[in-house]
Amino acid sequence: MGDTGKDGKNSLSIRDNRTGREYEVDILEGDVVRAMDLRQIRVNEDDFGMMAYDPAFSNTASTRSTITEIDGGKGILRYRGYPIEQLAERSSHLEVAYLLLKGELPTKDELDAFVEDVTFHTYVHENITEQVGGFRYDAHAMGMVISMVSALSTFYPDAKDVDDPAVRWQQIVRLVAKLPTLAAYTYRHHRGLPLVYPENELSYTANFLSMLFKIGTKEYKPSPVLERALDVLFILHADHEQNCSTTAMRVIGSSRSDPYSALAGAMAALYGPLHGGANEAVLRMLNRIGSVDNIPAFLEGVKRKEERLMGFGHRIYKAYDPRASIIKRTADEVFEVTGRNPLLDIALELEKIALSEDYFVERNLYPNVDFYSGIIYQALGFPVEMFPVLFAIPRTVGWLAQWQEMITDPEQRIARPRQVFVGSDVRDFVPIADRG
Ligand code: ACO
Repeated sequence: MGDTGKDGKNSLSIRDNRTGREYEVDILEGDVVRAMDLRQIRVNEDDFGMMAYDPAFSNTASTRSTITEIDGGKGILRYRGYPIEQLAERSSHLEVAYLLLKGELPTKDELDAFVEDVTFHTYVHENITEQVGGFRYDAHAMGMVISMVSALSTFYPDAKDVDDPAVRWQQIVRLVAKLPTLAAYTYRHHRGLPLVYPENELSYTANFLSMLFKIGTKEYKPSPVLERALDVLFILHADHEQNCSTTAMRVIGSSRSDPYSALAGAMAALYGPLHGGANEAVLRMLNRIGSVDNIPAFLEGVKRKEERLMGFGHRIYKAYDPRASIIKRTADEVFEVTGRNPLLDIALELEKIALSEDYFVERNLYPNVDFYSGIIYQALGFPVEMFPVLFAIPRTVGWLAQWQEMITDPEQRIARPRQVFVGSDVRDFVPIADRG
C-alpha cells in the first residue's frame, strides 16, 4: 500500500462535478489506483461508468512485476534487484537468464545443469533448417527468424499446455537454446554460405560466433574479448520490463497461445525502427551523415522535425540510459581487437553536440542502448540486417520470464482494452447506386 495520508487514509477522493457525488478509491503500492475503481463513477444508473483513456499506455501499469526495475529519472536498471552494472561486470548471459527466469541467482550446480540443458537443445529440426533455403538471398534476417520461431510451434504441439510448469520450462529452454542457431542460419543464408551446426563444447556466445563465422573444417576459436563483449551485450538486452515487444508477448500469451507463437509476435514488435530496429536505423543514419562536418546540418534537420536522431530518447529514461554507458566501455574493448570503427567518431561527436543543444536538453533526450550497440555489432562483422536479431536473442529471455509471470499471475486475464467510440451514430445502409 502507498503512504498513509495525514488523515490516516490511504485513498484518493474524487468529486464528480457533474453530479456532486464523492467517491473514495484505494491507493495501492506504487502510487496506483485501480482503473476498475473508476467504473462506479456514473451520472445515470444505466451508464457504463468511467474509464481511463491512455493511448500508448503512457501512464497505465498493466501488471505488478518482480522481474525488472527501472527508475528512468535516475538512470537505474535492475534485474531481480541486482544492478545492471554488477551483472554486466560479474555475471554471464546464461546466469542472468536463470536469474530472470527463476527469480534467484543459481548455485554452481543449478547453473551447470541449466547451461548443459541449453547447450543440448541448440539443434533445430532438419525441416526448419530446410526452411531457411526457401527465403530469397536478400530476405531480411528478422523476417526469417520471426517465421522460423513461429514455425517451431508446429514442431512442439505439447507447448500449448501453458499451464503446466514443466511443459513451460521445456519450451523456455528450447527457445533460449535455439534462437542463436536460427539467427546464425539467416546470416549464413544471406552470405550464401553452408550452415554450421551447433558446437556443444563452446560457450553460448562462442557457439553463436562459430555458427556465424566458421569456414570449412578449420577449428573456429573466437577472440575471448569478443566472446565476452557479446555476452555483456546480451546481458544488457535481456529484459526491460513492460516495453512494446514485452507487452506484445504478454498480450498474445494472455489468450493462452503457445510461447513460440507469442514470441514470434513479440519479435515482430521489436522489429520496428522505434524499438529494436533502432540499432539498424542508427547505423544507416551514421552512414548517411558520413562525416563529422555534416553533423550540424543533420541536427538542424532533426530540430525542424524532418529527421529523428535515432538511438536517442526513451519513453522511460529521462537521464542517461545506464546500458549506453556500459556499451560505450565495451566498444573500447572490442575496438582494441577489431580496430576502431570510423563511425564511432561521428557517433561521439553527434552525442557531444546533441547533449549541448537546447532542443535535446529541454526534452531530456539522451543516448539509449541502441546508439552504440550497432557500432560494436558492425565491428564484430555483422551486417546491419542482423542487428535487430542480435537484440532478439537475449530479449527472448526477458519475454519468456515476463510471459511466465503473466501466465501464473491470478490477477491476469485475456488482455482486452476498451475504446472510446467516436464514430458515426446509427444510420441506414444506402444501396451503391444511390451513393453520391
Ligand atoms: N530525435 C528527435 N526528437 C525526438 C527524439 C529523437 N530521437 N525522440 C523524441 N523526440 C522529441 C519528440 O519529437 C517530442 O518533441 P515535441 O515535444 O516537440 O513534440 C519529444 O521529444 C517527446 O518525444 P515522444 O515521441 O513523445 O517520446 P516517446 O516516449 O513517445 O518516444 C521513442 C520514445 C520512441 C524512443 C523516441 O524517443 C524515438 O523515436 N527515439 C528514436 C528511436 C529509438 O532510438 N528507439 C529505441 C528506443 S530504446 C529501445 O527500444 C530498445
